[in-house]
Amino acid sequence: MIDRDHIRRLLTERREGFSLPQAFYVDEAMHEADIKAVFETEWLFACSACEIPKPGDYVTLEIGTNPVVILRDRDGGIRAFHNSCRHRGSRICAKAKGRATRLVCPYHQWVYELDGSLLNARQMPADFDRGGYGLKPAHVEVICGIVYLCLAETPPDITRFRQAVTPYIAPHMPDRTKVAFEKTIIEEANWKLVIENNRECYHCAANHPELLVSLVEFALPDDPLGPAQFQELIARKTAKWDDLGLPHQPADGGNEFRCIRLPFHEGALSFTMDGGSACNKLLGDFTDPDLGSVRMFRAPNNWNHFLADHIIHFRVLPLSAGRTALRTTWLVHEDAVEGVDYDIKRLTEVWTATDAQDAELAAVNHIGIRSMAYRPGPYSPSEFMLTHFTNWYAGKMQNFVGTPSPMRIAAE
Ligand code: FES
Ligand SMILES: [Fe+2]
Repeated sequence: MIDRDHIRRLLTERREGFSLPQAFYVDEAMHEADIKAVFETEWLFACSACEIPKPGDYVTLEIGTNPVVILRDRDGGIRAFHNSCRHRGSRICAKAKGRATRLVCPYHQWVYELDGSLLNARQMPADFDRGGYGLKPAHVEVICGIVYLCLAETPPDITRFRQAVTPYIAPHMPDRTKVAFEKTIIEEANWKLVIENNRECYHCAANHPELLVSLVEFALPDDPLGPAQFQELIARKTAKWDDLGLPHQPADGGNEFRCIRLPFHEGALSFTMDGGSACNKLLGDFTDPDLGSVRMFRAPNNWNHFLADHIIHFRVLPLSAGRTALRTTWLVHEDAVEGVDYDIKRLTEVWTATDAQDAELAAVNHIGIRSMAYRPGPYSPSEFMLTHFTNWYAGKMQNFVGTPSPMRIAAE
């Protein structure tokens, strides 16, 4: 059960720049609070529009206890609905993805149109008002072909994010891609540890040999830890990107989001075992395969890389305090041909290995945090994005629990 007073006390104990108090990572009640405070209120990365190209195409996902279906309607629009029948609540779409001309509940076969309206409810009285029993919609926002979902009645404003990231990602034309491969793994760790692990590369050198063939560990162009060689690389690549009109300076996303273009190691073009291209057909109108990658993320649940030849999306959804689903999706140009332009193994092996290494690190992190000896520890300067994330998270939790009334404070 959620204990708001307990959460308030933990937030008071929390030190900025330190990992969170233990309960935030391990308590099942805190998992429930996270779902209510974060996942039922925020914009979440859901999927790519290219996963549902035709009317009736749908994908499903679960946000805590909320099954949701996202579909393409008859007019080509993207809509989201709670995947819960208005008769007696049964989940309607069971598959992870599919195509349907209409949504039919498996229990008593109520039939819904792709706009969510109830079309048919058999054996109900002649005067039954179907108009009052359409599927409950959820908010959807599509940014350059990337689908964000929000379950809140009144969603937060996503305009600033949209405006800030569009110039970085639009040239990669994510809306003209297709899914080459997707994979979901279950991590034995709290979702915040999965995110924290992603937001730093302090751990990369000792754990990610495949990733570091291409990826530069530094997160900022003026990273004080970057050697002169890195500064020289940055100067050369950014001059080229300026000529190509590709933005690269870090966008000001505060604690909420990040968007930046950074180079790969000299000579590396993509996330492959040898650093060479993963797909011969480049995205959008690109002719230069050497564009590094746009690294983008938005709290709370994802990160992305946009390269010259492919895009990777990572989606994090909590299953319980100690279990998290991570879905990785590799996108290539919509006209790229498997076996001709790209090979699935070559395209996916670096991040398949990296995801598995990160899953192990997060799981081991979670085990150690359960110890009676655990105390929040200090982030290194290179972990500044963890400070952003935990500050963002603490803000969401503070909004959720509110401040106690003065009488209550006096009593405490
Ligand atoms: S619960 Fe869906 S038709 Fe009865
Ligand atoms: Fe990692």
